[in-house]
Amino acid sequence: MHTILITGGAGFIGSHLTRLFVTKYPAYKIVNLDALTYAGNLENLTDIENAANYTFVKGNITDLDMLSALFSEHKFTGVLHCAAESHVDRSITDPLAFVTTNVMGTATLLQVAKDHWKDNMDGKVFYHISTDEVYGSLGDTGFFTEETAYDPRSPYSASKASSDHFVRAFYHTYKLPIKISNCSNNYGPYHFPEKLIPLCIHNIINNKPLPIYGKGENVRDWLFVEDHARAIDVIFHKGKIGETYNIGGHNEWTNIALVKELCKQMNEKLGRGIGESEKLITYVIDRAGHDLRYAIDASKLKNELGWVPSLQFEEGISKTIDWYLNNNKWLSDVTSGAYKEYYNSLYGG
Ligand code: NAD
Ligand code: DAU
Repeated sequence: MHTILITGGAGFIGSHLTRLFVTKYPAYKIVNLDALTYAGNLENLTDIENAANYTFVKGNITDLDMLSALFSEHKFTGVLHCAAESHVDRSITDPLAFVTTNVMGTATLLQVAKDHWKDNMDGKVFYHISTDEVYGSLGDTGFFTEETAYDPRSPYSASKASSDHFVRAFYHTYKLPIKISNCSNNYGPYHFPEKLIPLCIHNIINNKPLPIYGKGENVRDWLFVEDHARAIDVIFHKGKIGETYNIGGHNEWTNIALVKELCKQMNEKLGRGIGESEKLITYVIDRAGHDLRYAIDASKLKNELGWVPSLQFEEGISKTIDWYLNNNKWLSDVTSGAYKEYYNSLYGG
């Protein structure tokens, strides 16, 4: 039995995680705390919003008094901490927003959990959801393991690395029962269309240019978001306190190969001719400090806890495209207003 605080549950990964826990564990109570920034969207959770074991609270993880009141009210036994500023390009434009939420917000949440749990840490879990970007950038070979030294290179990854350090510091200093996972790039339904895959799906639908940074040779290791949520479930329940687990898809793609795969599948689904969507590919100026390659060695998670990804990429990407094609309203709602301004400032009108 758990009463769990999920932070950032209205975001991309958080909404899949919230859905999984609410539906798989009806005896648990799940409280979703989310500030509903541009990336938070309650439309991601309409199918579970009336579940008896689910409550939504609008609030900011930097608000210590609000967090403390929430812990007093609900007597949480677990925290799944997803809330973050998550987009690298935005961190280049506005690094301090990332320090505020990712560093100060995480430290505030740790402080409140420690204060409320200090007399009895038994059975409690503070689970911090982090990223492979803390490890820096790989060359053409090799993988990130849990022992890889931290080498963050963007304001986003520096803020996530800092938050990981705070989580470990609270374990070593105060014995706060923490777990951390560092995951590779996720894709799937409800992914905000500022990120490469949903941005390209949206632009292919609308016959708009597909902006490829630099030469498109950067490599990412893609994992279906529901597989990430399953991994978090396994680690939350069976992982060891104080440990870190890498999560990855063993699924490396250069950006250009990935976008061509998207074009190919969407030509078929939209009834377009061979090579038609590919004409939209447009090489644009590279991201500042663009990390070359991420690739995760997830063997610890496989060997110790038995988790492996369930979906092959071509199948996962096909499911994802179908979801976007069938959820036009969601896509047009999130791409109106403030997002249009952001898009035009980054890529031109
Ligand atoms: P997202 O941007 O889609 O969602 C973030 C959520 O956090 C939103 O609902 C937003 O409203 C909320 N939020 C932001 N600031 C907040 C604040 N101050 N207080 C409360 N809520 C706030 O992010 P995502 O892609 O779902 O990522 C979730 C977590 O997983 C992040 O910690 C990210 O670093 C990590 N992660 C993401 C990926 C990926 O590929 N997307 C991969 C590995 C790890
Ligand atoms: O590795 C995990 C990380 O993956 C997460 O921690 C981050 O929250 C998440 O945003 C993601 O970061 P990336 O920077 O890898 O994802 P993004 O979708 O922004 O970009 C993927 C690749 O595509 C990257 O090499 C940059 C490139 N790109 C991106 C955009 C938005 C383009 O070429 N054109 C674009 O328009």
